[in-house]
Amino acid sequence: METIAIATSPASSEFYDDLVSAAKALVDGETDAIANMANISALIWQYVPDLNWAGFYRVIAGELVLGPFQGKTACIRIAIGKGVCGTAAASGATQRIADVHAFPGHIACDADSRSELVIPFTKGGEVIGVLDLDSPNPDRFSQADQDGLERLMLAISGQLG
Ligand code: SME
Repeated sequence: METIAIATSPASSEFYDDLVSAAKALVDGETDAIANMANISALIWQYVPDLNWAGFYRVIAGELVLGPFQGKTACIRIAIGKGVCGTAAASGATQRIADVHAFPGHIACDADSRSELVIPFTKGGEVIGVLDLDSPNPDRFSQADQDGLERLMLAISGQLG
């Protein structure tokens, strides 16, 4: 496997182009979804600044189950429809939450988390998991972060399930 390195500043408009390219290169030719989620969470953790958690939950038997991640230990099972992750999984829509304390039903796995971005991903039209990013900074995630990370997930979701 080639070495993955991103030189672009996270503040630049090319940052997500480079992150998406790196993500595609990482999962290229690999069919094991868990291995791919492990590497993608490590890639995001390394290059996206100001995160305290980055990882995946997978839909298994009708609930979200903790998958590969970086950060502190986390809640293992989340009901579909509960918390930010469960809301993203139930609706199929990205949840970009500027202040998690103001989100009804937010599940505080890490008390440091102040804002959160959760992006669901699908297979055959069904949500099969979510990418969850937490930040200790309020309002950490911009529309550009959402757009870039949605693009990344679309580019690689075929290798995640
Ligand atoms: N805060 C999430 C739970 C997952 S942890 O942040 C890793 C939620 O409300 O769904």
